[in-house]
Amino acid sequence: MQTVSVPLGERAYDVRIASGLLDRAAEYCLPLIPGKRALLVSDQTVYALYGQRLTEALTAAGVRVAAVTFPPGEASKSLATYEKILQAAAAVPLTGGDAFVALGGGVTGDLTGFAAATYHRGIRFMQVPTTLLAAVDSSVGGKTGVNLPAGKNLVGAFWQPRLVLCDPDLLQTLAPARYADGLAECLKYGVLWDEALFSQLEQGALFRVTEEQTARCVELKRDVVLLDERDGGQRQLLNLGHTIGHAIEQSSGYAVSHGAAVGLGMLLMARLFCPAIAGRLARALEANGLPTQLHLSLTQVAEALTQDKKRVGGEITLVVPQQIGQCELRKLPVAEVQNLLCSVEAKEEMA
Ligand SMILES: NC(=O)c1ccc[n+]([C@@H]2O[C@H](COP(=O)([O-])OP(=O)(O)OC[C@H]3O[C@@H](n4cnc5c(N)ncnc54)[C@H](O)[C@@H]3O)[C@@H](O)[C@H]2O)c1
Ligand SMILES: [Zn+2]
Repeated sequence: MQTVSVPLGERAYDVRIASGLLDRAAEYCLPLIPGKRALLVSDQTVYALYGQRLTEALTAAGVRVAAVTFPPGEASKSLATYEKILQAAAAVPLTGGDAFVALGGGVTGDLTGFAAATYHRGIRFMQVPTTLLAAVDSSVGGKTGVNLPAGKNLVGAFWQPRLVLCDPDLLQTLAPARYADGLAECLKYGVLWDEALFSQLEQGALFRVTEEQTARCVELKRDVVLLDERDGGQRQLLNLGHTIGHAIEQSSGYAVSHGAAVGLGMLLMARLFCPAIAGRLARALEANGLPTQLHLSLTQVAEALTQDKKRVGGEITLVVPQQIGQCELRKLPVAEVQNLLCSVEAKEEMA
């Protein structure tokens, strides 16, 4: 078992990573549910795969478990699903000593966390991540929320889980492309802070990220969250590949998946600001089932950049790689970034 502690004072919690944890969940959850009632939240795909097992594990320990499910996919990360979860909690009814349990990927975790943050002005919740992305990224750090028609994550709260239980066996049923999405985030941690991690993953790690490597990713995210829980400074480094990545996702009409877009975003940043690492990064992406060719016009991507919600005034904060294992934040005028992108397009005809 790998355990990563997140020492946030009275909001401290542990991330536990071990094969077989799903069926042993009660051992770790029970002390955190004095009211002995839990609302299990899951999308329908994940619930069908693992809902019963988690319910049985908790029930055997004396916890009464109710469940609420919703259709899989980003479209469910909505106010409507959020309300459905709250109504289910009120029907139990969950009270102060009870808990929400998020069993699923980032969509489930973000929804459940936001419901937990606001139900009765905040009750506890636990995360059982079932995607690699959720295991190494979204389940840790306390950002929760839902989308509005006007944009992603426009409503939310900072609310830390009380426990994260990661059973890597659950990831075996993921579609390879979804696993690869998580690998893009793992490679991102390597480019940001850990050359050794990058070199372990660069030969290709599809369905092979170890518990140690998962824990290392969680530690790296934990460390930056501890420095900057509320996302004003250093936490922005986690946006490596994301500013341009989001623009790619958007201008593709979400045909390019998040991880694929983040990989392409990192690669573009490398080509623009640190060409020395671009070849190695491209090989690593390819080996991990992620694209290196963008089948979109960079001019379109540049246009989508102006809609980025993290943009303040006419400037944009980019995460610029300096070598594998080191990056810096750099504020640039949006117009300059757009020009750079268009010049890459002119030069390389990447599109
Ligand atoms: N809170 C944060 O800090 C943070 C960080 C990164 C991303 N996010 C959010 O996370 C979301 C993306 O998360 P995601 O990629 O996990 O998406 P997701 O939760 O939609 O899961 C992806 C798909 O995989 C399926 N699935 C999940 N686990 C499975 C399993 N074990 N076996 C088979 N199928 C499984 C789901 O049903 C879904 O169709 C986005 O909404 C993003 O905004 C949040
Ligand atoms: Zn991401």
